[in-house]
Amino acid sequence: MDWTFLKTLKFEELNLDKEDQDILHSLAERLQDNYPYHAQHYAGQMIKPPHPLAQAAQWMASFVNPNNHALDGGRATSALELEVISQLGQMMGFTPVLGHLTAGGTMANLEALWISRKIDANTTVLANELAHYTHSRMTEVLGIPFKAMPADAEGRMCLSDLKLVLTALKSKGQRATIVATLGTTGTGSIDPLEDIIDLAKQFDARIHVDAAYGGYFKLADVQHGSKRHFEAVQYADSIVIDPHKHGLQPYGCGAVLFKDPTVGRFYKHDSPYTYFTSTDLHLGEITLECSRSGAAAAGVWATLKKFPLVPRGVFAKRLNHSLQAANGLHRQALDFGYHSLPPALDICVFSTPGKKASLLSAQNRDFFERKAAEGIHLALLKLKPSQCPWAIEWDIEELVVIRSVLMKPEHNDPHFWKAVLG
Ligand SMILES: Cc1ncc(COP(=O)(O)O)c(C=O)c1O
Repeated sequence: MDWTFLKTLKFEELNLDKEDQDILHSLAERLQDNYPYHAQHYAGQMIKPPHPLAQAAQWMASFVNPNNHALDGGRATSALELEVISQLGQMMGFTPVLGHLTAGGTMANLEALWISRKIDANTTVLANELAHYTHSRMTEVLGIPFKAMPADAEGRMCLSDLKLVLTALKSKGQRATIVATLGTTGTGSIDPLEDIIDLAKQFDARIHVDAAYGGYFKLADVQHGSKRHFEAVQYADSIVIDPHKHGLQPYGCGAVLFKDPTVGRFYKHDSPYTYFTSTDLHLGEITLECSRSGAAAAGVWATLKKFPLVPRGVFAKRLNHSLQAANGLHRQALDFGYHSLPPALDICVFSTPGKKASLLSAQNRDFFERKAAEGIHLALLKLKPSQCPWAIEWDIEELVVIRSVLMKPEHNDPHFWKAVLG
């Protein structure tokens, strides 16, 4: 599938004049300059096609153009947003829950870390060295000390190092906020959340779970060893999950959830302009951003009507296809004599065969280019020796490998795996 259908879209309800239609035609031309994100043969970055229902719901709501900052600007969609947050909270085991949608995972993580600092002005944020870069950046924005914790060979936060750092902080009378990532961006690794929670209890630490990418896999048949860590999310203090990643939404839709609704007090502020129309909660009263898209809430709400967040439901089965796709590609890679990391979720990381890191890196870059020329779009990733269990001669510091994010159910197809690797 390519983007030529954009040229034939009809906007009958909009009463567009000839000039507007010509502009849209030029836009459709400009939009052709894109990778084919919707197609099976796009398996590169974390880009999942939004569901047409979500697009239609957003488009419908955009006629109203609601602003979920206050009930003044978005009465109906604020109610939809509360319903959506309650459903996300239920999936994660946060009942009751306080939360809201955000522009994306970065903003959502910023808010969770900001609340951590509000609760303890001296907190230090500890996150897996392979956690999303947003955590070191956002702690810089917030002025919170940040420490990257070493990862083990499977990309998971190393518990013994975490304990050492927690002990050192305790000896100085300090406490930590531990960020556990359920689904790292590079390899989809799962931090050992259940064990982290035990440590957090001993050291009175706060726990934030970055499940921006992996959160929806709570409903799916993740590997036995990871299941308990997904089950443990209910014991976290805050969670980030991005509907614009696995939740079938167009971009501009993350979510932050808090287990303790009383953290809403830290958001307390006065708005001289809004909050007049009702004494009910205005979402702006518990949000750092001011104006926010009510249409985004409509998109998630409609999608959850069709795909309720239940284990073994249609949505969970779609996610299972992605898990099977990554495992299938991994097994096929091994059969072809490639190096491959066992996938924790739906991200498969592999390398063409060989031993010397510099040659392999060059070979993998060529492979990536060759595949793109064939119309199969993958991604690249840099691995350090500690992240790489393969027997390799390390003549350079980082190995460039191939990364494939298999977010679409159509990726669960042996013909596709052979086409990727062949
Ligand atoms: C684990 C994780 N956290 C946070 C983010 C940042 O989210 P966003 O790109 O929505 O700002 C990402 C993005 O890939 C991610 O994978």
